[in-house]
Amino acid sequence: MRTRRAALSAIAAAASLALTLSACGQSGEGGSKEDKKDTKGSTVGIAMPTKSSERWIADGANVVRELEAAGYKTKLVYGEDDPDTQVTQIEGMITQGVSALVVAAIDNKSLDNVLQQAAEADIPVISYDRLILGTENVDYYASFDNEKVGTLQGNYIVEKLGLKDGSKKGPFNIELFAGSNDDNNTKYFFSGAMKVLQPYIDKKQLVVKSGQSKLNQVTTLRWDGGTAQKRMDDLLTSTYGKERVDAVLSPYDGISIGILSALKSDDYGSKNKPLPIVTGQDAEVASVKSIAADEQTQTVFKDIRLLAKSAAGMVDAALKGKKPEINDTKTYDNGAKVVPAFLLEPVNVDKSNYKKELVDSGYLKADDLN
Ligand code: GAL
Repeated sequence: MRTRRAALSAIAAAASLALTLSACGQSGEGGSKEDKKDTKGSTVGIAMPTKSSERWIADGANVVRELEAAGYKTKLVYGEDDPDTQVTQIEGMITQGVSALVVAAIDNKSLDNVLQQAAEADIPVISYDRLILGTENVDYYASFDNEKVGTLQGNYIVEKLGLKDGSKKGPFNIELFAGSNDDNNTKYFFSGAMKVLQPYIDKKQLVVKSGQSKLNQVTTLRWDGGTAQKRMDDLLTSTYGKERVDAVLSPYDGISIGILSALKSDDYGSKNKPLPIVTGQDAEVASVKSIAADEQTQTVFKDIRLLAKSAAGMVDAALKGKKPEINDTKTYDNGAKVVPAFLLEPVNVDKSNYKKELVDSGYLKADDLN
């Protein structure tokens, strides 16, 4: 008997073919009719990484809302940023008989065994925002163009410093921060940013004064703001006696807030010691307020309402034996297979456009920012 997973692979192949065909102006075949089951009213398990960041709280609520609107029940769990807890939670949901799983991994390499159990129980798995690595048992991936997130951050730095249009030559001092080394997104964010920054580093227009410029020297376990604050404190003490840091590449708002705390403790932000450019990601309320107050400089807005819609659409399609909306069948090789993905566009946000992008779009309420 053909399993649902075999049918899904066939659908993924058809999706890939459909992409190719539509690129040639033809239309592809419809989805497989195999293994259609009445899944209406079934429960979908959602495993989110942590409640310590507001984005994941919103992600959980958004995915629940989208799935419930499509007629599913949901079971939402948070893994407290502990990989073992997340594995136990997913095991529990498989035992409870969920019909599908949506997983934002804590450690992208820790889910092999548990996803094998999901496969044996014929449960489709959607990798949410962060790609799960090293297993065939991931059906679809919903995320953003993660490399572009880094490109936006890198570009923002060189533009604001005046290096891009040549109005300033530097040299400017920069320090680099990256995300958690167990999150697959980390390397995409960093490489997107470094492709922009490295040529200026090579020309010595940007100087990483600490000398810490390799990814494995600048990661921040579990994206923890306190860890980033400590590292920035150490950098300021060890490297920046009389000199000033002009820019800090930060991959995520929680890290940016930690970096800014260290900078402010060292008198940055006072009259004669302006804050450096500090990037970010996620448009979290604390960071948007910080941008409005001229502290953090930039963030990358990723509309996670659309991400939840995409993931819920993937669940619904997988359960009904249909083809979900996919726009990338090449980029996200997880080591076991290329996972068919739907990638959304990230948006650069700073003080000049945060109202338009975040408030006018209904993503944040004006009141939240007071
Ligand atoms: C990443 C995610 C970022 C940020 C970070 C820390 O995986 O893509 O948007 O949220 O985790 O939570």
